[in-house]
Amino acid sequence: MQIAILGCGYVGLVSGACLAEIGHSVVCSDNDEGKIRTLIAGGLPIYEPYLSEIVTRNVAAGRLSFTADLGEAVRHGDVVFICVGTPPLQDGDADLSAIDGAARLIAVEARSSKLVVEKSTVPMQTGQKLTRALAIYGRNSKNSFTVASNPEFLREGTAVLDFLHPDRIVIGVSDEPAETKLREIYRPILEQSALPCPIHQRDCPTKDTPALLVTSINSAELIKHACNSFLAVKISYANLIADICEKMGADVEEVMRAMGLDPRIGPAFLRPGLGFGGFCLPKDIQAFIRLGEKAGVDVSLLRSAELINKRRIDHFLTNATHWLWTLKDKRIGVLGLSFKPNTDDIRFAPAVDLIGRLLQEHAQVRVYDPEAMAKTRELFPAIHYGADAYEVAEGSEALMIVTEWDSFRDLDWPRIRSLMQRPLVLDGRNLLNGKEMVAMGFEYQGVGIPPAETWGPNAAQPVEAPLAQRLRT
Ligand code: UDX
Repeated sequence: MQIAILGCGYVGLVSGACLAEIGHSVVCSDNDEGKIRTLIAGGLPIYEPYLSEIVTRNVAAGRLSFTADLGEAVRHGDVVFICVGTPPLQDGDADLSAIDGAARLIAVEARSSKLVVEKSTVPMQTGQKLTRALAIYGRNSKNSFTVASNPEFLREGTAVLDFLHPDRIVIGVSDEPAETKLREIYRPILEQSALPCPIHQRDCPTKDTPALLVTSINSAELIKHACNSFLAVKISYANLIADICEKMGADVEEVMRAMGLDPRIGPAFLRPGLGFGGFCLPKDIQAFIRLGEKAGVDVSLLRSAELINKRRIDHFLTNATHWLWTLKDKRIGVLGLSFKPNTDDIRFAPAVDLIGRLLQEHAQVRVYDPEAMAKTRELFPAIHYGADAYEVAEGSEALMIVTEWDSFRDLDWPRIRSLMQRPLVLDGRNLLNGKEMVAMGFEYQGVGIPPAETWGPNAAQPVEAPLAQRLRT
């Protein structure tokens, strides 16, 4: 099938490359000419495992191309996927101006009728507005436009695998031809046996055939927000339990393990730590809160989840201050900058908030991340960027683990201990084994581990509210 992709961000690039991989002819377009130049030259504007090999293979096979001429892309596609950004506005609402812009472009540039598919995350009822916009902008054309919703459930870092081996595919449609077309597009994925493994059997999950859910457009739009907000609530719940564990004397890892074994709860998204970041969960829960408020629904559950998340850095710094007394002039190493491992994305990353706060306290900040250094440098040009974790550890009075990259677990920790001025590790993701760390001579603080069991010479009650408040202001 001939497919156009508007927007070459994470969603657009991964979707475009994977749709080409399963046999479609795809033209991807973006109004950022620099991004398109990079793509045409064989580069990628983002780091995403497996994406590079899939893009290279499909460009070579002539199934995938890139153009800065959005009209050309629209004319190529019988089906046009809108994958443009919907960033948060000041009040938390999603900014839909790029969706409106895409509607105008499609209506004006189309030379034939199109199925227009929303893939960007949008609030409910956007499909209706998009249908209206296409009719208004295309009022002088003979072409007709049908709208469908096909939310993405791609996690950064595993987006290619998520696309090609999904748990479910949701298509929100208002008529049968749209359903038939979308079924046809996803047929190779729905019939997994027909899909040659793009990852060359490496890491390729053997999954059951994904479920296909055909819903109304409104339901499809709601499913996306409902899923992401639920995940956010689950993480905040784990963090709430972690705080109780710290205060009252239990180990959150033990509690979460037991909770996760209940099939009604499940183990995923119960990892406590510095909270959820990235460009989806924080903005989606905000937009969902706004949507609920406008609908006159009580959204206090979502508000609380959001608030708990916003306070994670306060809590972490309160504990840090307990160990370090004051942060001023302390040399502090930060390991991990991306909002989660296996990505270079730092949008709404806890590390960004944390570094800002450490600088406010006049700490000397030294950082390292396997992928996200370049993007962080744009935000914080004046801090020290280490060549590796060892350089960051050198002379530090504390090492903060902010993103749980696997490679950090495998570091030569005895070497790190010998390099540090004070061997204190504040593990914001419970990446390491506290007992082993103490056995190696570290002072160690995880998340949700009570002070009595926070092994180390200075173990005592963490300081309470007044200091936390001082750090906040
Ligand atoms: C999310 C959704 O998972 C995905 O389905 C959707 O399409 C896009 O948004 P992503 O933003 O890539 O994906 O990240 P995700 O894996 O959901 O993690 C979000 C944040 O939550 C990260 O900062 C992560 O560190 C944090 N997290 C996750 C926790 O703090 N604890 C957990 O148990 C899980």
